[in-house]
Amino acid sequence: MTHGFDKDYWESHWKQAPGAGHEPAPHPYLARETHDLVPGTALDAGCGEGAEAVWLAAAGWRVTAADISSEALARARARAAGHPAGDAITWVEADLGAWQPEQRFDLVTTHYAHPAIPQLRFYGRLAGWVAPGGTLLVVGHLRGHGHGPGDEHPPEEATADAAGITALLDPSAWEVVTASEHERPVVRGDRTTVLHDVVVRARRRTRLDPG
Ligand SMILES: C[S@@+](CC[C@H](N)C(=O)[O-])C[C@H]1O[C@@H](n2cnc3c(N)ncnc32)[C@H](O)[C@@H]1O
Repeated sequence: MTHGFDKDYWESHWKQAPGAGHEPAPHPYLARETHDLVPGTALDAGCGEGAEAVWLAAAGWRVTAADISSEALARARARAAGHPAGDAITWVEADLGAWQPEQRFDLVTTHYAHPAIPQLRFYGRLAGWVAPGGTLLVVGHLRGHGHGPGDEHPPEEATADAAGITALLDPSAWEVVTASEHERPVVRGDRTTVLHDVVVRARRRTRLDPG
């Protein structure tokens, strides 16, 4: 690994990313894993340019979208400004390795965020922010497919697998709904890249759940 995933890294990542006219679609797991949930409050952790936050807002969620990069948030705000549901999003610039939310959320989701703290510790923090009865949805880079620096091939420490993520979730407190590992081709310009993804969705039990 030639760099850490700190704020400077992410600011420079977003400053170099394609600009106007580049509006990637939300990742496919979001609709697949949330279509049967009743919208409430949601946190998108490491929201980047805001595609998932805008999608959630359009689906009726009241979204807090947080990112460490002011550049990413500026792009996300611009994207949301043109959208009818944009007002349902609160943008927060924060290091989620240290931030403490003032509320718990009905949905906490993250897509491909890899911070400076260890990946599983990050997911553990997110799990702690889910309200009783709420859902944790983690989409990440799959362990075993990191090949060094670069966006398509993250270093091993920025990856995880379904077993590692579900092991964070005490079965007496969580029901794991989805724990899966996928390959999916994505087209970027004139190139097709295969992404290796891990997806974990879990519901935090309430005291009223049948024991
Ligand atoms: C690979 S990008 C993914 C962005 C977006 N979720 C997506 O899937 O397109 C990872 C994002 O996580 C953010 N990030 C990394 N470390 C963070 C941290 N400690 N706190 C908050 N956001 C962080 C980065 O700025 C970046 O926007």
